[in-house]
Amino acid sequence: MNSQLLRVKSIDKLLADAEAPEHRLKKTLGPWSLTALGIGAIIGSGIFVLTGTAAAGEYFQAPSILHAQVLDLVVNYLRHGGSAAVLMHGRPPAGPAIAISFLLVAIACSFAGLCYAELASMIPIAGSAYTYSYATLGEIFAWIIGWDLILEYAVSNVAVAVGFSGYAKAQLGAFGLNLPDKWASPVWASGQWTGSYFNLPGFLIVFILTLLLVRGVRESAEANNVMVAIKIGAILTFLVVGGMLVNPANWKPFAPSGFGGIVTGGAIVFFTYIGFDSVSTAAEECRSPQRDLPFGIIASLVVCTVLYIGVAIVLLGMLKYVTFASGDAAEAPVAYALQQLGAHRFFRSIIVIGALMGMISSLLVFQYGQARIWYAMSRDGLLPRLFSAVHPRFKTPHWSTWIACFAVGIPAGLVDIGDAADLSNIGTLFAFVLVSLGVIFLRRKQPERPRTFRVPLVPWFPLISIILCGGLMMGLTVITWIRFFVWLALGLLIYAGYSRKHSEFARSAGERS
Ligand code: ALA
Repeated sequence: MNSQLLRVKSIDKLLADAEAPEHRLKKTLGPWSLTALGIGAIIGSGIFVLTGTAAAGEYFQAPSILHAQVLDLVVNYLRHGGSAAVLMHGRPPAGPAIAISFLLVAIACSFAGLCYAELASMIPIAGSAYTYSYATLGEIFAWIIGWDLILEYAVSNVAVAVGFSGYAKAQLGAFGLNLPDKWASPVWASGQWTGSYFNLPGFLIVFILTLLLVRGVRESAEANNVMVAIKIGAILTFLVVGGMLVNPANWKPFAPSGFGGIVTGGAIVFFTYIGFDSVSTAAEECRSPQRDLPFGIIASLVVCTVLYIGVAIVLLGMLKYVTFASGDAAEAPVAYALQQLGAHRFFRSIIVIGALMGMISSLLVFQYGQARIWYAMSRDGLLPRLFSAVHPRFKTPHWSTWIACFAVGIPAGLVDIGDAADLSNIGTLFAFVLVSLGVIFLRRKQPERPRTFRVPLVPWFPLISIILCGGLMMGLTVITWIRFFVWLALGLLIYAGYSRKHSEFARSAGERS
């Protein structure tokens, strides 16, 4: 039983399976397309929505342990033996020091990114952390991580699609086209029904992108390149236009809640970095994965970090951080600040349309990535065969892509953005921890296998990645942890009921006997 749960897939077998003609994907991506794919995934709605709220903090009227940060609970139990001093009313404000949170999170992501790059360059196969853990830690871990990655890809895309809907509604309103609230807002928000029927723009954008993805990666990557250029242009425009409206007095106090506020802010804005690892899910479609994958992951991370810190410094110099606590200022802080300070309408439109483009390209890459993970899990027998069917003409996993469309589009039509972001943060951070462990294990188990990219100072760098990502997980709330465990428990039930028996290893054992 134990040996079944811990069975690993050999790396040679993984490479051979990917070359089987009925499963082979088109190899069309180079280093710059990969970097654009990374930036396309990374810059989504997060920078445009969460920067303000993370700086301003959050306050709930009714105290509850569910709102407490796990880190705060642990520290208080260690120090005082109880939870009396734990903050139960919500998150403390990070203030302008949210710029430091961005830097710290980028450092954590860099360590995890190096681990991703090493494994991706060794095992250039679709499926991201799922495939790596199948080759290193064993089937049960592969299942857990594959299931967990659905949180990263699907749930974060739900959040981005909801954010898209909000911005799209606002921009159409500015053009005089007012969408009815009943068809353009969440059905369930802040724990109650809103009276809305369906959030149609969120669903429609996912549907349209699916049509593009099913047609093939080349067309999609080219569309992505254009969108990446537009959104970087929009952010640079904001830095210049907003930069001229900065009042340095707003930068004081810089860190109103000290280091605790910076860590808590980091756990929230971590969402803005989700996506750089999705470059590795495209490994099977790269022309030269050994050389280009590490480049694509690190280059996209560096570009985004510089842009994010710039946006944070400028935005929080334009208005006092407390302004962004609620209302329009919380939902669209960048647009709000520009409007309040009288920026020209032309520049405001450029920036909002650029933000929408950012969300579209993020949605595109995540829909792409999640279909590839399901495809890889199905190829291994952990999900039904349908998920790894490849379109005869377009050579894309079309069934997975369509299923991903409805799995994301329908919830995006129903829920609000808030909790979806936190849930995908915890899922992603957990995946990073497992990938970092995978590097250490594989260096021990298969030291001779060629690695075109090697993480320096193993095991120290992967250990730093584990500690930093684990620390960010602790910055999330008790309710987020509970939801995460419920999700994992559900996954284990499916594994026990279906995947364990249908896994490729189970089948080949059956054929032999
Ligand atoms: N990183 C993506 C975003 O910011 C998910 O929206």
